[in-house]
Amino acid sequence: MSQSQNTILVTGGAGYIGAHAVLALQKAGYQVIVLDNLSYGHPELIQDRLQAELLVADISDRAFLDNLFATRQIDAVMHFAAFIAVGESVQEPAKYYRNNVVGTLTLLEAMIAANIKKFVFSSTCAVYGMPKEVPMTENHPIQPLSPYAASKRVVEQMLGDFDQAYGLKSVIFRYFNASGAEPTGLLGEDHDPETHLIPLALLTTLKKREFLSIFGTDYDTPDGTAVRDYIHICDLADAHILGLEYLLQGGESNLFNLGNGNGFSVREVIETTKKVTGLPLPVKEGDRRAGDAPILVGSSEKAQKILGWQPQYADLEKIISHAWQWHQQRHG
Ligand SMILES: NC(=O)c1ccc[n+]([C@@H]2O[C@H](COP(=O)([O-])OP(=O)(O)OC[C@H]3O[C@@H](n4cnc5c(N)ncnc54)[C@H](O)[C@@H]3O)[C@@H](O)[C@H]2O)c1
Repeated sequence: MSQSQNTILVTGGAGYIGAHAVLALQKAGYQVIVLDNLSYGHPELIQDRLQAELLVADISDRAFLDNLFATRQIDAVMHFAAFIAVGESVQEPAKYYRNNVVGTLTLLEAMIAANIKKFVFSSTCAVYGMPKEVPMTENHPIQPLSPYAASKRVVEQMLGDFDQAYGLKSVIFRYFNASGAEPTGLLGEDHDPETHLIPLALLTTLKKREFLSIFGTDYDTPDGTAVRDYIHICDLADAHILGLEYLLQGGESNLFNLGNGNGFSVREVIETTKKVTGLPLPVKEGDRRAGDAPILVGSSEKAQKILGWQPQYADLEKIISHAWQWHQQRHG
């Protein structure tokens, strides 16, 4: 899989998923340039741990992008840069449409002007809205329920139009819950504020938080708590390499779910966390949150069939133990 001639621009590469993708790209032999405005990123992961090139810049800085694309040979862009907090997007939709839609539009316009026409995009299962059937396939109806999800959907639609008009080829990945960490402890998840269940459980275990909230214990699920699809971050990163190679080999624009295929309930996550850490995990049971679906599980058969993707870490205990290793080192 040596692709040393190809240079990939990774926007948002100093963030959680982007950094793991940078590592996967390095391992696959690509040259990598990270572009991140560090609004949420961790530069030390890129510069010290991965020893990759980091450009501190904003995707909406057209002059910067034009200069970059004029001076460096870039073969494709992996676009992770975005704001990601669903709740905040409800309070401040303009912030989300500006960064996630207008910022992405600026990036795409600069790419087209520079004749860079391969694009891998981080979308989300949140574009589906409330599940009508599980596991959800790519044909599930679309109904984004937050400005965050809508901002991702708008970009998906732009990508369809830009292929028609400008020949821009894209792979869209709709992720389910990205989780876990690089198995040796090199990289991991460090969002601030943190809203994801597994890191919240581990931060509570480490006494950085008083308790873990369970939102809803009366869902129509086996143990009454909500069921989600947790995909290991390294499996997610590997899928990006396959999506990139698909485009570099001349593949048509396409979109794929990326999920584990198995759902795990909040209680299962809690019990597995306790088992992995051997430590207590105080929880507080509360009411359901508005807009939360009982079960969100994706089918990733299409990615497996077309890209040949084979997730290696579908096991919840593995996911949590890798995350635990990272969290102990980062926050312990
Ligand atoms: N974490 C998940 O479970 C999940 C699920 C579905 C989709 N996604 C998508 O995956 C992508 C990465 O998510 P993440 O969890 O790694 O988030 P993250 O916040 O850790 O990383 C995003 C990175 O983008 C950078 N960034 C934001 N706006 C920027 C801008 N205008 N210019 C340059 N850099 C900018 C931030 O500094 C940060 O380093 C996002 O697009 C997100 O919507 C994530």
